[in-house]
Amino acid sequence: KKVGVLISGSGTNLQALIDATQDPTQHIGAEIVLVISNKPDVEGLRRAERANIPTKVIVHKNYPTREQFDEAMDAELAKAGVEIVCLAGFMRILSSKFVSKWSGKMLNIHPSLLPLFKGTDGQKQALQAGVRVSGCTVHFVVEEMDAGGIIIQKAVPIESDDTVETLTERIKTEAEHKAYPEALRLLANNKVRLGEDNRVILL
Ligand code: GRF
Repeated sequence: KKVGVLISGSGTNLQALIDATQDPTQHIGAEIVLVISNKPDVEGLRRAERANIPTKVIVHKNYPTREQFDEAMDAELAKAGVEIVCLAGFMRILSSKFVSKWSGKMLNIHPSLLPLFKGTDGQKQALQAGVRVSGCTVHFVVEEMDAGGIIIQKAVPIESDDTVETLTERIKTEAEHKAYPEALRLLANNKVRLGEDNRVILL
């Protein structure tokens, strides 16, 4: 399956997806054919370039509306023949048209065990709540933020001396970078799909 990855920043999850898809022993059944960033000069773009993956910078500020920005991205995804979209640290909210077009074919990764701690600072929220376990969630993207059907979750412990930085790092290296390729493998091989009422069906 041809995959397009949308990023806004460092792209460590993009790197995990690149490494997994390029490793034939992992049988991900997917190839990243395009990386789109809404920010120029981010490390994620350099990661794609190093892996010889085509990149596009589409700056949201250059488009008068969210819909037009999304249409510009969609045109590039279509041109590249993309069949699955992975959001990997992509910091823009997507229009309902884009979300419904990619329904069941678009994944996101979030740094908490959803439905706890939605939004931009899931790690900080977990520390403030005093929970002893957090982790990551890979889910289908639906219109409501961080509310789509859950495919994979992976937990990590929270240590008493954790800061947002140390927890963020542990969630990425021990959870996200393993869970995201695994979720992509399930979707690319038709082993999971999004059914009615946001229900996830594992086949
Ligand atoms: C990750 O923590 C992910 O869960 C969140 O954004 C961050 C992206 O990090 N959605 P990176 O750019 O993949 O390093």
